[in-house]
Amino acid sequence: MRKVDVFDTTLRDGEQSAGVNLHPHEKLEIAQQLERFGVDVIEAGFPASSQGDFQSVKQIAEHIKNSTVVGLARSTKKDIDAVWEAVKRAEKPGIHIFLATSPVHMQYKLQMEPKEVIKTAVDSVRYAAQYFTHIQWSAEDATRSEWSFLTTIIEKVIDEGATVINLPDTVGYTTPEEYGKLFQYIQENVRNIDRVKLSAHCHDDLGMAVSNTLSAIQHGVNQVEGTINGIGERAGNASLEEIAVALKIRPDIYDVETQINLKQTVRTSKLVSKLTGMVIPQNKAVVGTNAFAHESGIHQDGVLKNKQTYEIIEPEMVGLSSNKMILGKHSGSHAFKEKCKELGIYLNDEDGKKLFFAFKELTAKKKEVTEDDIFALMMDSSMQGTSRTYQLEFLQVSYGSRVVPTTTIGIRTPEGEIVQESATGKGSIESVYNTIDRIINQPITLIDYRIQSTTVGNDSLAEVYVQVEIKGVSSSGRGIEHDVLEASAKAYIDAINRLQVKEYFGEQEKGVSSL
Ligand code: KIV
Ligand code: ZN
Repeated sequence: MRKVDVFDTTLRDGEQSAGVNLHPHEKLEIAQQLERFGVDVIEAGFPASSQGDFQSVKQIAEHIKNSTVVGLARSTKKDIDAVWEAVKRAEKPGIHIFLATSPVHMQYKLQMEPKEVIKTAVDSVRYAAQYFTHIQWSAEDATRSEWSFLTTIIEKVIDEGATVINLPDTVGYTTPEEYGKLFQYIQENVRNIDRVKLSAHCHDDLGMAVSNTLSAIQHGVNQVEGTINGIGERAGNASLEEIAVALKIRPDIYDVETQINLKQTVRTSKLVSKLTGMVIPQNKAVVGTNAFAHESGIHQDGVLKNKQTYEIIEPEMVGLSSNKMILGKHSGSHAFKEKCKELGIYLNDEDGKKLFFAFKELTAKKKEVTEDDIFALMMDSSMQGTSRTYQLEFLQVSYGSRVVPTTTIGIRTPEGEIVQESATGKGSIESVYNTIDRIINQPITLIDYRIQSTTVGNDSLAEVYVQVEIKGVSSSGRGIEHDVLEASAKAYIDAINRLQVKEYFGEQEKGVSSL
């Protein structure tokens, strides 16, 4: 079988999703999980876009051993230098340079003549070739570019040392048939195309990202790009887990293989969802909670008689376990550590101790501790990192159906002082947030608030996700607690803290100027 490489861009294109802002240690956690998932290439970020991105790409490059770690660059020396500085210590370093090739992008965004675009692309790849042996070059908005122009520019960048050519469907405009034909045309018309890998990168604006990617595979590409859970700009990118499973289930159609470890699918998906705060739709293929639920009587009857009647994917194949009780209150730290490893949770000593402590506290309140609980605790303890600046010390809320909800909160400031305030609100959560606003003393706008339970049952933990805007910059945060009000307060404070970290690193807005 032909091997197809998997290029993951969850930490770059995925991180460009509105409201997503990950801490560097969360990005590392995702990168390590992507390595366990078996992706060939991890696009760890866009080093020139901010100091924060630079540092996290560098950290990922220093920890990842099996996957190639690439950073994104515009076609400038400054961007290429930044990628090299960030990834040069990686076991397998690489760069991803892009430049727009469609008439609309060249005329309005780049304000360059096609000839200048060719020269810029050629110069950038030549410059990168001094440092890199793995150079991916992308023709941004390829699917709205003139095919003959693409052949000219691709031939030239290959001559300069590009090793992977990517033709992105940047705006999610193409169709499976058209995208397949584009790759066929490029293979038939670019003289030196056999020297490189061809890559497909699709966005989901018309809901065809996965189908377009699969069609590209049928037309000879040997690398596919996407994100976990399909997160990304606008409608998102192609979902890698859907592509990987489709290739596994239909070898009769695609006849290719990847090195993805499908058993890590659910864990990878959950980790990305929890850390980004981007909830997985219940009916999402492969990883949605309903993906394996048979509801109607006829279907249930069929599955009981023979699973194959209505089940084409075995839940175990993607690592779905029956979320049973895994540990009790008498479990010691050794057993706990072993169980964490089994779940794919690898923590250093300090974080391991914190998680064990949180687990012990939970067993006092909750009868059955499930895999999802451990997972939620891990998310929560991963937030207790060095970068947390404001801390919730205590919270008291008085609520009644005929009285004005009133909250008193104590918060430890970054300077170590405990500040106490009280405020009212139309509802109890509003009163909590009004109180925090008083303490922080900045205009904070709540953009989004979501709550879900970690598991079933009255004793489940509550997970709250919020998105706030402070001085025009948006930030998201999460809080996990037994009590919904405390989880709400923690999520709000977490969003504020994440913004502080961004400011500390001099993080820029996600959109950076183009070239
Ligand atoms: O969608 C796109 O065109 C991109 C490029 C940076 C490759 O993400
Ligand atoms: Zn993209």
